[in-house]
Amino acid sequence: MNILAIESSCDETSIAIMKDQKILANIISSQIDTHKKYGGVIPEIASRLHFENFGFVLEEAMTKANMKYEELDYIAYTSNPGLIGCLHIGKMIAKTMASYLNIPLIPCNHIEGHIYASAIDEEFIFPALFLVTSGGHTQLVLLKKHLSFEILGTTLDDAVGESFDKVGRMLGFAYPAGPIIDKNWAKGKDTFHLPLPKNDKTLDFSFSGLKSACANQIDKNKNNPDFNKIDFSTSFQNVAIKILMNKLELAIDKYHPNLVGIAGGVSANSLLRSETKRICQKHHLKCIIPKMAYCTDNAAMIARLAYQKIIEMKGNN
Ligand code: KG4
Ligand code: ZN
Repeated sequence: MNILAIESSCDETSIAIMKDQKILANIISSQIDTHKKYGGVIPEIASRLHFENFGFVLEEAMTKANMKYEELDYIAYTSNPGLIGCLHIGKMIAKTMASYLNIPLIPCNHIEGHIYASAIDEEFIFPALFLVTSGGHTQLVLLKKHLSFEILGTTLDDAVGESFDKVGRMLGFAYPAGPIIDKNWAKGKDTFHLPLPKNDKTLDFSFSGLKSACANQIDKNKNNPDFNKIDFSTSFQNVAIKILMNKLELAIDKYHPNLVGIAGGVSANSLLRSETKRICQKHHLKCIIPKMAYCTDNAAMIARLAYQKIIEMKGNN
């Protein structure tokens, strides 16, 4: 079974080719250098760049996978959530290819794709609990079986990735600031007192209060030549990851999963990766930490999700 998958929900143009359960190609063309100039993603520019990039990305993916168009069995694409203009470009290309090749089209949810990135190299066991941490979402999701997604908790305002990017921007770091704060974290000292946001017994998150507390401290220090941005990065990352881990442990205690995984761009964070492993060891749970290439947006995760949908569809026929 050969699947071609397209991901274009934000600022990465990506095409993957999957043969049975094996990824043969996962080409990602990042637009970050263009959006950096504006301090964040400009939706109209992102759509135009997807349109320009798709041809090259498609050709590279097909060449790398050594696949002919007539060998493809399915076309999968990210249908939601994401920037509407960007999603439309991906959908248009997917629909055109599927109709030209006369093969089925599989629409896929981006967040579900992030979760299934973990199933590329590992098998799920159920119940499986996932902490989804991307630029737009922060959720705890429980799967009692394949493709059944129960949202246990979600952010009430900003997503954790968004808070890394916004706090980083206040510190003068380039977009996306998450990886920069993470690099600084390892070098700095935890010297700033920041509040643990929404540290209650619910499974929901809130990051806007933490962002305001950071804005106040950064503003107070604007004329202070000794203000240490590296130490501030360390303090911020410790608090942001601590609250994610507190909620993850609450969900483990309440739902008793057999597997815990992390998903989405922030799962590339070194502290989130090591803390998740530590918590899984403490609770004797199988732990899946996705490969770095599958953390941020990519089409391989969409191909893997589509593969599961096809297996399920075939099973029901
Ligand atoms: O999943 P993703 O690629 O796009 C969305 O679906 O939103 O996530 C992007 C987010 C950005 O906010 C970026 O700053 C964050 O992931 N990110 C990180 C790290 N690498 C990427 N945040 C913290 N530490 C990292 N190492
Ligand atoms: Zn994403």
